[in-house]
Amino acid sequence: MAEIENQRQGSEEDQVITPWEVAAKEGGKIDYDKLIDKFGCQRLDETLVRRVERLTSLPAHVFLRRGVFFAHRDFNEILDVYERGEKFYLYTGRGPSSEALHLGHLIPFMFTKYLQDAFKVPLVIQLTDDEKCMWKNLSVEESQRLARENAKDIIACGFDITRTFIFSDFDFVGGEFYKNMVRVAKCVTFNKVVGIFGFTNEDHIGKISFPPVQAVPSFPTSFPHLFSGKDNLRCLIPCAIDQDPYFRMTRDVAPRIGYQKPALIESSFFPALQGETGKMNASDPTSAIYVTDSAKEIKNKVNKYAFSGGRDTIELHRKYGADLEVDIPIKYLGFFLEDDVELEHTRKEYGAGRMLTGEVKKRLIEVLSALVERHRKARDAVTDEMVDVFMARRPLPHMFD
Ligand code: TRP
Repeated sequence: MAEIENQRQGSEEDQVITPWEVAAKEGGKIDYDKLIDKFGCQRLDETLVRRVERLTSLPAHVFLRRGVFFAHRDFNEILDVYERGEKFYLYTGRGPSSEALHLGHLIPFMFTKYLQDAFKVPLVIQLTDDEKCMWKNLSVEESQRLARENAKDIIACGFDITRTFIFSDFDFVGGEFYKNMVRVAKCVTFNKVVGIFGFTNEDHIGKISFPPVQAVPSFPTSFPHLFSGKDNLRCLIPCAIDQDPYFRMTRDVAPRIGYQKPALIESSFFPALQGETGKMNASDPTSAIYVTDSAKEIKNKVNKYAFSGGRDTIELHRKYGADLEVDIPIKYLGFFLEDDVELEHTRKEYGAGRMLTGEVKKRLIEVLSALVERHRKARDAVTDEMVDVFMARRPLPHMFD
């Protein structure tokens, strides 16, 4: 109950974070410390990162090392389980609302791929075509089409076909999955979802009844073809922190219906090119780099729109150095430039005014073009047959090997 008492960030607050809206205080940045307090999750500290490295015998992913994934719930318990030689499974998802993904969309999937490889565990990926049909007012058919298109981008992130099940809600909901939805729904009052998600009396009942759909992939019994006989298998959910409300609700209900609470590992948002006041907005093409952008488009967008912390004149820049706190090129390099030494060097030189914005942007353009090109190639290699296999309701006999 304690978890659920942390209510939604209301509009009377200075920042609003719900699954549908991410807005910082006017002109400000998102205050992640405040969010951790408000939501009641835990900070992912250095000790946990070191523990992951020890247990997996691998260097931590850039997103862990640099604090992109910065919050968690019971992640330490998942590591306890793993240390005892038991396994767990991963659950993540995507609401297919647009054809083209932007870089921010890739972050949870890149990270989930690392977790899958590092821990050698199965993964279920939910495509909430039903959610986007209701929230974005898409037709059922269009949402289904987008789900399949997005599945290709997700597969292109490199998931292991022997350990990964991708499903769309329209195709998969039923059977044991639906029984769990009803078990959850019976435990959640209208008042409670209003508190957690901010629904109003004018919202249609589709929205109000949706949260159990996103909740139940957290329970292994929802996937009898994968986890039958493993009713107590623990679940770890990598996601952006705006999804936390769903899983606060899930964790509140789980013990009441005899299930384990899912653990979470949560990321901050990938900032828009214009600056760090929210997450990238898929409907504003100048705010984001898409995985479909050409090298030329990437170059133009970075040069034209990426908010710079450099000073107005070269003289002032040399004198004061760049303001790294607000500089988007440096922020983006922090996500995607893997070389710690080069990143540190760049921060130091740019921050001291010895490096100019143009040079930092040039390096960013190289890094992003390479990433996008790699993704494009991988996506081109994803066939319809591969999508069919990933999305087939099939046992995965080697998923824990
Ligand atoms: N609601 C999420 C979105 O709009 C999709 C989603 C479903 C999800 N299940 C998830 C995201 C689990 C993270 C983890 O994108």
